[in-house]
Amino acid sequence: GAAEVDALLASHISEHPDFPIPGVLFRDITPLLRDPVALRTVIQHWSTLLPEGVEYIVGTEARGFVLGAPLAYEIGAGFIPVRKAGKLPGDPAGLTYDLEYGSARIEIPQDSFSAGARVLLVDDLLATGGTAAATLELTRRFDVEVLGATFLIELMGLGGRDRLPDTELSTVWQIE
Ligand code: PRP
Ligand code: ADE
Repeated sequence: GAAEVDALLASHISEHPDFPIPGVLFRDITPLLRDPVALRTVIQHWSTLLPEGVEYIVGTEARGFVLGAPLAYEIGAGFIPVRKAGKLPGDPAGLTYDLEYGSARIEIPQDSFSAGARVLLVDDLLATGGTAAATLELTRRFDVEVLGATFLIELMGLGGRDRLPDTELSTVWQIE
């Protein structure tokens, strides 16, 4: 159940103050990834929270790949990678977006979706929502139906939800 999963996440996601820069409390999912029982329990529970009818999961490099692919496998969906710039062959679609300092570019394979496909965005963690907002903007350029976005961890109080209006959100673990 949810309480068991919360306890697993609390014991398998470590906290690192001032990483990668001063003032950030970094949440590291690698202890969860390395524990076979915890990983399977969390993925299976998470899969029950997702909307019905998802045809494609869109996951963002890098941690959105590690969690998005097993989720896609679990629910019988395909997996579409959103990559950092310069990694995808064959004229990918791209979007440049602003970060706190500077900018970043993400890309998605050109022929990712069949017409009208029902898609779900997946990532490990929702912080400011900048990554998810950019991924959604890029995904919505295609002829798709975005069913929502889902995150393993939601850092409350960073305004991530407010950056994603008009998007059905589900999050497994909400923390400060
Ligand atoms: C992290 C995390 C999310 C994003 C969340 O990725 O995996 O994708 O930041 O932050 P936001 O809500 O403020 O945009 P990161 O850019 O560190 O890349 P990684 O997955 O390659 O480690
Ligand atoms: N991405 C953005 N903020 C993060 C945090 N505090 N821990 C891990 N990944 C993050």
